Amino acid sequence: MQEVLDLVASQRRRWLVTGSAGFIGSHLLEALLRAGQQVVSLDNFATGHRANLDDVRARVGEEAWARHEFIEGDIADPETCRRVCEGVDIVLHEAALGSVPRSIKDPLATHRANATGFVNMLFAACEANVKRFVYAASSSTYGDSPTLPKVEDKIGRPLSPYAVTKYLNELYADVFSRCYGIETIGLRYFNVFGPRQDPNGAYAAVIPRWVSEMLRGKRCVIYGDGETSRDFCYVANVVQANLRAALTDNPEAVNQVYNIAVGDRTTLNQLHESIAQALGSQRTDLRIETPEYADFRPGDVRHSLADIGKARRLLGYAPTHNVGAGLREAIGWYVQRASQPA
Ligand SMILES: NC(=O)c1ccc[n+]([C@@H]2O[C@H](COP(=O)([O-])OP(=O)(O)OC[C@H]3O[C@@H](n4cnc5c(N)ncnc54)[C@H](O)[C@@H]3O)[C@@H](O)[C@H]2O)c1
Repeated sequence: MQEVLDLVASQRRRWLVTGSAGFIGSHLLEALLRAGQQVVSLDNFATGHRANLDDVRARVGEEAWARHEFIEGDIADPETCRRVCEGVDIVLHEAALGSVPRSIKDPLATHRANATGFVNMLFAACEANVKRFVYAASSSTYGDSPTLPKVEDKIGRPLSPYAVTKYLNELYADVFSRCYGIETIGLRYFNVFGPRQDPNGAYAAVIPRWVSEMLRGKRCVIYGDGETSRDFCYVANVVQANLRAALTDNPEAVNQVYNIAVGDRTTLNQLHESIAQALGSQRTDLRIETPEYADFRPGDVRHSLADIGKARRLLGYAPTHNVGAGLREAIGWYVQRASQPA
């Protein structure tokens, strides 16, 4: 990982990070500022928080923060996209509305941010002669394909509006690279977790939600029988993948999509146990309740496990954290976060 950071630091570039007040975007912003880069970032606070930006500022210090310009705005507005792309060398596009259940409840909002917003950003990047556009794709693109592990070129039918938008991103990126010559790389993230991931709200991801519930002495709900499995990926791996994708000079590696995960599968039952253990090591006073089981949720895929061979081969991606290591690194943050007002 250090070698990638050194590569980033070796030349000062101007980067655009969209979705910078969100979970993954804030980690990308932090890594770039630490590596001496010039960063413009954009967010409309739909699901992101100013507190995440404040946290990055406190962690990188004022000198690094001075190299960052934040713009509050919406990617559904083409003019905003044009403005933020000016003079930018590389775009890391994270802004989107996450969550499968949210997209089933409100498909129009998901489409607006993830489809219209995406094509606005991509076109603005082309018009501004941005060299490379790295974007957050998703494992949800595998849809109903039963094949395990998931290999990039074997996808099924999407199971949710969210999955449709994320697949559409890949189609647009591919066509734009052909029509306008922009270099694009899509990273299909698999269930990312880590500090600054929002534990609150109806659409919170499972790890921050369960940690927060366990810390409040509540019973966690498992949808289904608990044998549903995921390839949980710690955010440091995702940062590494983005930086490698942004800077690779391997011509075969561009205009491609990649699985970004660990290549390990964890069931929800195992995850509950691992979080309980990690929390127990920090808070010996904590009594963790057994989980409660509820119906399967519509749109959820049963198993998800990535083959990360393509990213290893073409990008040199090598995950540094498995689930256990990620949980151990993040748990202190969750405990501290839980002691602050929501
Ligand atoms: N977290 C995961 O497990 C995961 C998995 C697969 C893909 N992804 C993708 O990764 C990206 C980042 O996800 P995250 O987990 O950090 O989510 P997040 O909700 O924490 O971050 C997304 C950010 O985008 C911003 N945003 C949303 N709509 C916007 C708009 N119209 N204009 C400007 N900003 C807008 C939000 O305010 C938020 O700060 C998303 O594209 C998501 O679909 C995430």
